[in-house]
Amino acid sequence: MYETLIYRKEDNIGLLTINRPEKMNAISAGLTAELAQLLDEIEEDDELRVLIVTGEGEKAFVAGADIEELVDRDARMGRRVTQERQALFARLESLSIPVIAAVNGYALGGGLELALACNIRICSENAQFGAPEVKLGIIPGDGGTQRLPRLVGLGRAMEMILTGDFIDAQEAHRTGLVNKVVPAEDLIESAMELARTIASRPPLAVMYAKEAVNRSQEGDSAAGFTLESYLHALLCTTEDKKEGVAAFLEKRKGTFKGE
Ligand code: COA
Repeated sequence: MYETLIYRKEDNIGLLTINRPEKMNAISAGLTAELAQLLDEIEEDDELRVLIVTGEGEKAFVAGADIEELVDRDARMGRRVTQERQALFARLESLSIPVIAAVNGYALGGGLELALACNIRICSENAQFGAPEVKLGIIPGDGGTQRLPRLVGLGRAMEMILTGDFIDAQEAHRTGLVNKVVPAEDLIESAMELARTIASRPPLAVMYAKEAVNRSQEGDSAAGFTLESYLHALLCTTEDKKEGVAAFLEKRKGTFKGE
């Protein structure tokens, strides 16, 4: 049981809800620890195919790090907390299964960074995105300066991080920050639909595709291409690949076993 998270499974899809609605789901030290514990649980769950992350309530996905905890944060603590959260978000980003952020309201600061660490983002029409840290005299510390420019481009990321201003859902869609904008009441179903599609694909191919695509974002793109080629070659040895190719050629639906 978690205090700051709600986690449930629907078939082979996990739905994680950040649950501190009275604080706009702000990320506290306690929440960080619980998230680490839940990721341990998720990493052990071989049935799971996709994870969806959302926020409790209608207002916020996550409105950032808990600002109350910033009061006493000194340089030493700042380094420790960001290192810890970077490592946590990196774990989420590179889980063996895809992670979809269903952004249901404000995604600010650490909340934006949490969404960026997810592999795909969709949002509700009332969502807003921002990196307001600069207004607090700090900068993003949970990966935002690295992941945001990769997703929306250097100039746009620079503007968001230097001004701290928010952008709305439509702007987020135009800039590629989110893949899709849907009415709030359709958000979870829309994320589930995407998750079910991905979950229906051969699991090993999904896992290696995610790893290869993630690798494209690292500086050394030659290594990324090499890895892509090796992982493609490895998948050529699987039963699921045999079945997938056969099913296509025989004009039938494939049945995949993750072998
Ligand atoms: N940390 C801690 N508490 C937070 C929080 C955060 N990041 N964001 C919101 N809250 C709390 C508010 O303090 C308030 O608590 P209270 O009712 O005990 O006073 C409650 O959540 C509701 O927020 P409120 O500001 O009253 O709602 P709003 O609708 O007027 O504004 C936001 C919503 C998200 C725009 C505003 O709360 C905000 O700017 N939050 C901070 C965002 C930020 O700077 N994040 C980066 C931190 S590094």
